[in-house]
Amino acid sequence: MSQQTPTILVTGGAGYIGSHAVLALQQSGYNVLVLDNLVYGHRDLIENTLKTELIVGDTSDRSLLDKIFASRSIDAVMHFAAYAYVGESVSDPAKYYRNNVLGTLSLLEAMLAANVKNFVFSSTCATYGVPTTVPIPEDHPQSPINPYGMTKLMVEHILQDFQVAYDFKSVIFRYFNAAGADPEGRLGEDHNPETHLIPLVLQTAMGIRPCIKVFGTDYPTEDGTCVRDYIHVYDLASAHVLGIDYLLKGGDSTIFNLGNGSGFSVKQVIDTARQVTGKDIAVEECDRRPGDPPALVGSGEKARRILGWNPQYADLEKIIAHAWAWHQSRHG
Ligand SMILES: NC(=O)c1ccc[n+]([C@@H]2O[C@H](COP(=O)([O-])OP(=O)(O)OC[C@H]3O[C@@H](n4cnc5c(N)ncnc54)[C@H](O)[C@@H]3O)[C@@H](O)[C@H]2O)c1
Repeated sequence: MSQQTPTILVTGGAGYIGSHAVLALQQSGYNVLVLDNLVYGHRDLIENTLKTELIVGDTSDRSLLDKIFASRSIDAVMHFAAYAYVGESVSDPAKYYRNNVLGTLSLLEAMLAANVKNFVFSSTCATYGVPTTVPIPEDHPQSPINPYGMTKLMVEHILQDFQVAYDFKSVIFRYFNAAGADPEGRLGEDHNPETHLIPLVLQTAMGIRPCIKVFGTDYPTEDGTCVRDYIHVYDLASAHVLGIDYLLKGGDSTIFNLGNGSGFSVKQVIDTARQVTGKDIAVEECDRRPGDPPALVGSGEKARRILGWNPQYADLEKIIAHAWAWHQSRHG
């Protein structure tokens, strides 16, 4: 590690979770450089809000990566860049294997060539498939049920092999459902197309959508709708900074779930959004979607114990209130 302030390359830093991680890194005193191809990222957040250097480019562009690593002293890479639409991964798996696996391999090879061996990786609870135990611990068997989850699992395997062969260190974070927005309203979730429940519910509250579709009301859960573990993006970002601190202090490769250990049903999310927004949110009840497990809840106990992670916003009302403030400022 260099003697000066460490520099972190954040791929996908112009996206939802990446931009919050950039802010958290800046607030912890790190230098940050963002690489994003802007297919889904937002230039304005990097240039006007976060005011950090943005390199517009792709992780599969090896000559660009070699130039980046040769021209500065980078201590670690935080890798968010990926495609993350589950349905699209089923209809166009080639796009997902190319970007999420080959793009990542290109980045990892450029890192090895530059002797940069600290890596924080965005994995997902989708690698578990349909869980047999809830809350899900990190050693639960992994059996993804869609190509998106499989691409993330493949990268996890690559990282384990790189550790053995090249002494390459990684922290793998398997997130549950990222939600919420910067508590001070500077950043938030702005996916296009949007597929996540909370922003869709809030778009309905704003009148952008006529109603919110609830897929399945006969699951074996308390109210029959799917239960998910919503993790505030602020808490995800703080875990990533702790992951970088851990690696730069010489920590060994390891894997953490990032979840709150408690879940909320789709109906609970909609009811809470009604309370937070004061709006009547129309609902259309639909059949189950194939491949939606009834409940996905993750234990974050290992991250608390080893990293000292201390999530601040496990409360659903706070998560939705922060998202609502952002939605109103961005789209109101
Ligand atoms: N949002 C969630 O709930 C969730 C849950 C689990 C895991 N994840 C993972 O977290 C990461 C970030 O998710 P997000 O919701 O912020 O998505 P996002 O789409 O908002 O951000 C991803 C960013 O990566 C960029 N990008 C994609 N491919 C690239 C490439 N090859 N080169 C350079 N830039 C590229 C996009 O332009 C975008 O800005 C992803 O890896 C995703 O799989 C997200």
